[in-house]
Amino acid sequence: MEKVRKAVIPAAGFGTRFLPFTKAVPKEMLPIVDTPTIEYIVREAMDSGIEEILIIINAEKECIRTHFGHNFVLEDFLLDKNKRAELAMVRDLPLKIKIEFTYQLEQLGLGDAVLCAEKFVQNEPFALLLGDDLYVSKSVPVTKQLIDAYEQTHSSILGTLEVLPEEVSRYGICNPVQPSSERLVQLKSVIEKPSIEQAPSRLAIGGRYVLTPAIFDLLKTQPKGAGGEIQLTDSILRLMESEKVYSLKIDGKRYDIGSKKGFLEATVDFALSRDDLKETMKEILHEKIKS
Ligand code: UTP
Repeated sequence: MEKVRKAVIPAAGFGTRFLPFTKAVPKEMLPIVDTPTIEYIVREAMDSGIEEILIIINAEKECIRTHFGHNFVLEDFLLDKNKRAELAMVRDLPLKIKIEFTYQLEQLGLGDAVLCAEKFVQNEPFALLLGDDLYVSKSVPVTKQLIDAYEQTHSSILGTLEVLPEEVSRYGICNPVQPSSERLVQLKSVIEKPSIEQAPSRLAIGGRYVLTPAIFDLLKTQPKGAGGEIQLTDSILRLMESEKVYSLKIDGKRYDIGSKKGFLEATVDFALSRDDLKETMKEILHEKIKS
């Protein structure tokens, strides 16, 4: 069985829920305290054993590429001033992992963005991490949880979270072969953005996947679906005709950074989890609540 060595991070969407910020700056670059969202996601992939990463961007999002490259002028400056900690922050990541970039020419949807990764992935299973879904896990990194499930099943895995009935219409929703309380279940079908009445469960696809390369041929012939976009979920449904597909309940807390609520919550939680900022954030919150 082939090892999951590669990860794909689509980050080429317009991010309309976060305008006007996203007019000039990608939402994947929104800082959670002092680190861009997409850096946390790259680190999750690295902590999960991933060896090569492809980030899908568009021509307006070059700053993502800049962030993961070397800035030799800055590195020299920090070295000169003996600012070792800051130097490590800007230099270590580009040294540790190979990150490639490709461009999605038109924003036709997530399915189309994933198709841009075909040449990079070739014939291997791969991890897919959406560029605006941030996870914190107290146990194993979320992508590693999915890779472990892949090693058990040799099949595509969709990471899921349980959502409220009124939220199902915002997600791809899974339909398990049989009702089960197990974390890992085989799926009968998936449906993108169903109404409450149509939704077969409350198991929502949460921005983390391990997929087999068979997905690419299906994406090539995938007609537009919900929202007039090429939906990855629709191709995953067709994948089930030839291969088993499973869902795995993610053990971790998710923040949808593409939404204002998710961004604000992550900012507060991440500050509270840091020794250098915990007390400051508590003071701020305390004062606000008092008034
Ligand atoms: P979203 O649906 O959350 O992104 O896609 P969006 O379309 O950019 O955002 P809104 O809904 O308008 O606010 C999830 C991930 O897939 C990428 C996005 O960049 C995001 O990281 N994506 C989406 C693409 O790369 N290409 C697309 O055509 C659409």
